[in-house]
Amino acid sequence: MLDLIVRNARVSGEKDTVDFGCQDGRIAERAQRLDAPAREEIDAGGNLVTAPFVDSHFHMDSTLTYGKPRYNESGTLYEGISLWGEIKPGLDVEDIERRALLLCRWAIAKGSLAIRSHVDIGDPALTAVHALLEVRKKVSPWLDLQLVAFPQDGYFRDPNAPALLAEALDLGVDIVGGIPHFERTYDDGRRSVETLCRIAADRGLMVDMHCDESDDPTSHHIETLISMTAELGMQGRVTGSHLTSMHSMDNTLADKLLGLMRETEVNAIACPLINITLQGRKDTYPKRRGLTRIKEMMQRGINYSVAHDCVMDPWYAGGSHDMLEVAHMGLHVAQMTGVHETADIFNAITVNPARTLKLEGYGLDVGCNADMVVLQAKDPTEAIRLRANRLFVIRRGSVVSRTAPVVSEVSFLGEDALTSFSVSELP
Ligand code: FE2
Repeated sequence: MLDLIVRNARVSGEKDTVDFGCQDGRIAERAQRLDAPAREEIDAGGNLVTAPFVDSHFHMDSTLTYGKPRYNESGTLYEGISLWGEIKPGLDVEDIERRALLLCRWAIAKGSLAIRSHVDIGDPALTAVHALLEVRKKVSPWLDLQLVAFPQDGYFRDPNAPALLAEALDLGVDIVGGIPHFERTYDDGRRSVETLCRIAADRGLMVDMHCDESDDPTSHHIETLISMTAELGMQGRVTGSHLTSMHSMDNTLADKLLGLMRETEVNAIACPLINITLQGRKDTYPKRRGLTRIKEMMQRGINYSVAHDCVMDPWYAGGSHDMLEVAHMGLHVAQMTGVHETADIFNAITVNPARTLKLEGYGLDVGCNADMVVLQAKDPTEAIRLRANRLFVIRRGSVVSRTAPVVSEVSFLGEDALTSFSVSELP
């Protein structure tokens, strides 16, 4: 007896719909028509079924603090950092847990079942680290949470950071972070990348740094990150987040760096919702967009993702943790409007970040985790266009979230013509 059958599922790139049979948390069978008995059946109705969304870059310690104790009036990255500095001393474990768990519920309802969150290790009590380690444990049946030890105030600029980062890793934080462009000098930034990569290599951990989140075209700490990846044999285990300076960089240098990223399998993560609002702030007109070169990354076969970064915090007032909104913004800002480009950006919120996070059992093949999302759309492009409704979210073979189909009733041609339809049914 199967635990769950998902019938009439449309898988991107396949002509016929399929049924998925789930058992013991895995996809046990996949066929055009399953006849096996099951404890529960749901009908995808010919809609798109995808492996879950993966948010590869988030800040769960600061989420849902918008307006406390005050608003970021300038809306800039640096006022955001000082505002977070005002919030930090007053943080308590219960408040962080409450906000993080609420955010996780929003994320699950929107089909995200894995999140990599940075956690600021700059507080001497490591309050956020303790809180998010607890949240990681609590949400694990529903969502995979990875934590990055993030020295928000600079690994060398904050004299307490080296000891606190080591303590956070000892406590069980998964990944080593950094912020080289925020160190006092360029050379401090370079040394921070080298030191943090060595720490990760010694501990057998992955690296994910906020790297070159600046409009300064000369900021290219990614070069050191690439070089350390090669030197330490960490191919595929290192990620550069943001990389916004690459937007403004000389094409020759950008071209060289992209080639090296491909060669050393350094992953890239762009945060379109945040960087379209934070970058170019010192510009008059024209204003730079500040998003890294994801179109060129796609063309070169670099594993790139787009991620949420923030929801209602000192840096960003908006958001509801919707990865389709992230893809929608990324598509516009990076002008990925070609048919294949639009379809590819769907990969940037699913399979690509799953690879960056090294998620085991991710996908829709037999034997993979029975984790999937039924969208009220026929294909990935329509899902992004509509920021489609998430009809069912399934985790390890159990339905963990349901949303009623969006249906409109229209009678503008009179009562006789009253008709019900969902937006995705329109011609
Ligand atoms: Fe970030």
